Amino acid sequence: MAAVVFESGKNVDYAHDHMKGVKDLLDAGVTNSVPDKYVFPENRRPSVAQVVQGESIPIIDISGLDGSQHERLQTIQSLAQACAEWGFFRVINHGIEASLVARMLDVAHQFFSLTSEEKMKYGNRDVSDPLRYGTSFNTNIDQFFSWRDYLRHFCYPVLQTPDNPPNYRDVAGQYFKETRKMALKLMAAVSESLGLQPTYIETVFREGLQFGVVNFYPECPQPELTMGFAPHSDHGGLTILLQNEVGGLQVRHKGHWVAVEPVPNTFIVNVGDHLEIVSNGRYKSVEHRAVVNAERTRISIAAANGPALDALIFPAPQLVDETHPPLYRSMLYGEFARYLQTTELRGKDNLDLLKIPKQEQ
Ligand code: OGA
Ligand code: NI
Repeated sequence: MAAVVFESGKNVDYAHDHMKGVKDLLDAGVTNSVPDKYVFPENRRPSVAQVVQGESIPIIDISGLDGSQHERLQTIQSLAQACAEWGFFRVINHGIEASLVARMLDVAHQFFSLTSEEKMKYGNRDVSDPLRYGTSFNTNIDQFFSWRDYLRHFCYPVLQTPDNPPNYRDVAGQYFKETRKMALKLMAAVSESLGLQPTYIETVFREGLQFGVVNFYPECPQPELTMGFAPHSDHGGLTILLQNEVGGLQVRHKGHWVAVEPVPNTFIVNVGDHLEIVSNGRYKSVEHRAVVNAERTRISIAAANGPALDALIFPAPQLVDETHPPLYRSMLYGEFARYLQTTELRGKDNLDLLKIPKQEQ
């Protein structure tokens, strides 16, 4: 039994093993308040900036990519606009079966419902381990813990999955294969939208690394004091995100936060740091965050599609000229990814590592 002592509603002693995650915390009876470790400073709490109403990310019908040449060009144009103005969009008519999506959400839920002992078989591992269960963001360096448990595993070229639930491997194998197909199709279109060969970006990704991040945010006794996933940008090329029916994702747009409502049968796609670099800043990775709520468990599943760890990332030469100097220096993707795992989540600061200072451009 966890030793949790409350004094007038506030935790004064807390001897629970935080590494087991927030679901474990709830199961241990911590249901009145969040332990101090999860209390974010006021200026980093969800309320720090207003969430604006009435705005939403663009919607793109990607069946147009398989349509007539005219339809394809129109779809590519709306993709270009969405990538340049928002860095985030919702895709519809994507061809991934609703039943596969439902099964994926189901095995994800089943995984987090396992005993802590079972989940911890994959816990306390190195941040670069191809299969890892964890909590918060990076517990080695997190100053404040986030109300989030996660399972992170490689999907391509090698699928690494937990042994339990027994059908996780089969379902995740199918699910991530489909989302990777969609990502490659989008990559070709994005490449074309930048005026590059359709295969330019796709080639980088064809042999690239895909990993899955299954986020589990159980109900939280004091959601206003903590975060589910602190503001960050994704470091890969394109992320394909699925959320269950519980909202919580917010995207930073023109200085304010816009909520991305859950809509059945749709996926959210966002531009990652790598695509910002390849496009030499024409498309921008965008800060996003997830907030938690007091009533319901939220699950989201990110399929992160990036280059291979030994690939060099740099602005496409065709997008660099006298009026468009290179904005980023080149780096091995693996080196970039490793660096990110040693820094605390802080919005889009990641890319500063690669930015070429103005006077040197
Ligand atoms: C992520 C992410 C947000 C969410 O996994 O990178 O941003 O909605 N998730 O859970
Ligand atoms: Ni993200």
